[in-house]
Amino acid sequence: MAIQKPVTRPANPRFSSGPCAKPPTYDLAKLASAPLGRSHRAAPGKAKLLEAIETTREILGVPADYRIGIVPASDTGAFEMAMWSLLGERPVQMVAWESFGAGWVTDVAKQLKIDHSIHTAQYGEIVDMAALNYDDDVCFTWNGTTSGVRLTSGDVIPADRNGLTLCDATSAAFAVDLPWDKLDVTTFSWQKVLGGEAAHGMLILSPRAVERLESYTPAWPLPKIFRLTKGGKLIEGIFRGETINTPSMLCVEDYLQALAWAKSVGGLERLVARADANTAAITSFVDAHDWIEFLATDPAIRSNTSVCLKFTSERIKDRAAFAKAVAKRLSDEDVALDVGAYRDAPPGLRIWCGGTVETSDIKAMLPWLAWAFESEIAS
Ligand SMILES: Cc1ncc(COP(=O)(O)O)c(C=O)c1O
Repeated sequence: MAIQKPVTRPANPRFSSGPCAKPPTYDLAKLASAPLGRSHRAAPGKAKLLEAIETTREILGVPADYRIGIVPASDTGAFEMAMWSLLGERPVQMVAWESFGAGWVTDVAKQLKIDHSIHTAQYGEIVDMAALNYDDDVCFTWNGTTSGVRLTSGDVIPADRNGLTLCDATSAAFAVDLPWDKLDVTTFSWQKVLGGEAAHGMLILSPRAVERLESYTPAWPLPKIFRLTKGGKLIEGIFRGETINTPSMLCVEDYLQALAWAKSVGGLERLVARADANTAAITSFVDAHDWIEFLATDPAIRSNTSVCLKFTSERIKDRAAFAKAVAKRLSDEDVALDVGAYRDAPPGLRIWCGGTVETSDIKAMLPWLAWAFESEIAS
């Protein structure tokens, strides 16, 4: 017997964990003010780049003495640039609880080959950050996009640490109030929480990170695309919008539009509240159904952006095939796009809950999830 389909559909079925949904008021026509066909080093382009930096600072509450730069190659570019420029001066503790963090571990262990220790947790769990030695440098991911697990705070990171902390905050920035005094390097990409375009990354440096850059030269060569210093001094221009190479002014305009939307809804506090409300809607659904669970069993560490779920019903024989089939049903119905778990993660679903997603859409989508589950069981 066919299971009855819900009547209501989400107005926007885009729940991908990256690139993420555009802000609800997004309008391509607003990109018309991009200075296209002009040099990014001419006054209008430079002004846009500086505006992107300073509005980021304003919304995220980044201290005035921290540098913010727009760099190539999205978050990956920003984090790699930081690791290759800063690490090696002292041992580094590499922390990973999912796929992206694991990628940074591989870089340090197999490419940089520097003195390191590795601290990992299974998908759905987290490393005890209090057990780390902050005399070493420490690299970690704030929000594990592929596991749905995040840090609860930076409280255990000592303010008077000797090492640097390097934080990949790709899916946390704009959804979490980041503790800047605990972070020496923070990176994220435009394509995540604000639903911007890919290709550009943000690199945020504390004064101590700048001090390291100016006092330490890595033993390995650095390509131009990674170089943050010249003659032992920070290239300050990078942090005023004089990018290392040519940025896309269309992407910059798009990011500015996202930032303007973020301000219009009430800034960081409201973005966090929107993500929390989306996640709460999913929590109510999970609590009401005995066949689905969060990948993260401890509610305290559950992400409010990349919500990862697993099917627990005993009636399911092949969990990977089942989760794929459910995701396909949701996609075929155009009610939830791109919600399959990440390729390296345990089988299940991943539903993006960042602030650009409307809670009404999450609520309209969830009955479809129940429909897809029951239909798949019945088939
Ligand atoms: C935690 C984390 N780090 C890094 C990346 C890579 O980001 P990008 O593809 O923008 O470089 C992602 C992308 O999903 C991510 O979630």
